[in-house]
Amino acid sequence: RMIMKKSQTIGIIVPDITNPFFATLVKGIEEVLFKSDFMTILCNVDTNDDKGIKALEALNHRGVDGLIVASSGVSMSELVKQDALKNIPVIELDRQSTSQTMDSIKTNDYLGGKLVAELLNEMEHHTVVALFPEFPSQNILKRLEGFTNHFLGQVIHFSTELSKASGKKRVSDILLTDATAIFAANDEIAFGVYTGLNDYGKKIPEDYSVVGYDDIEMSSYVFPSLTTVSQPIFELGQKTANTLIQRIESPEMDETEIILPVKLIKRLSVAHP
Ligand code: RIB
Repeated sequence: RMIMKKSQTIGIIVPDITNPFFATLVKGIEEVLFKSDFMTILCNVDTNDDKGIKALEALNHRGVDGLIVASSGVSMSELVKQDALKNIPVIELDRQSTSQTMDSIKTNDYLGGKLVAELLNEMEHHTVVALFPEFPSQNILKRLEGFTNHFLGQVIHFSTELSKASGKKRVSDILLTDATAIFAANDEIAFGVYTGLNDYGKKIPEDYSVVGYDDIEMSSYVFPSLTTVSQPIFELGQKTANTLIQRIESPEMDETEIILPVKLIKRLSVAHP
């Protein structure tokens, strides 16, 4: 297949640029692209499908050479199947790739969830609230599966968006349960839980242990410092950009599959109940 036009631009679609996860990710992507003389066009689409469609159309109109979609928008996979975008390479980050190119760059989400389960087992928690999106993307689903498959006690599921506000809102529900620990799908949710618990006069880790996910920089600056699973976010961005450039330059190359490691970062937000 021949690449017809070369604009030396790449489109990036993210759900929430205020979440430092995506800021770091984009920084990693941009660094590599810039070195290879590609410019980036960044679109923030929230979980808004209309905005997602408009962004894709606009990117296509500008003749981008490739696309990186890190959106949690539910039907994004469907969108990138649009005819107009069929001829350019697309890498989808937050789900198993369903698009025409099958390159996939992920982190080991199942292991991440499992590590959290093992920590909370070891700390003798018997009931945990899991704060995860109602319709999780593939990677986040794996994270939850790794957790539920290895946690020995009871898991109470409450759905949340991946935001501080959403985490904070759930605290009143958490207080009605017997849970002694909370596993948040990302650090942003965990920060919301911190504020919510504080509003009710509850202490971390004395009253509740809290575990996040991502290890964004703030996790080590909040009080108490947040126990979390670190993803190599910057590297994820770099590897994604590298793979996309290779795909643009050699459309026929073998599919790339990269799984990056995760690590449990033990800080002060977890204790015995
Ligand atoms: O904080 C954003 C979350 O959504 C991260 O955990 C990342 O893996 C993405 O899927």
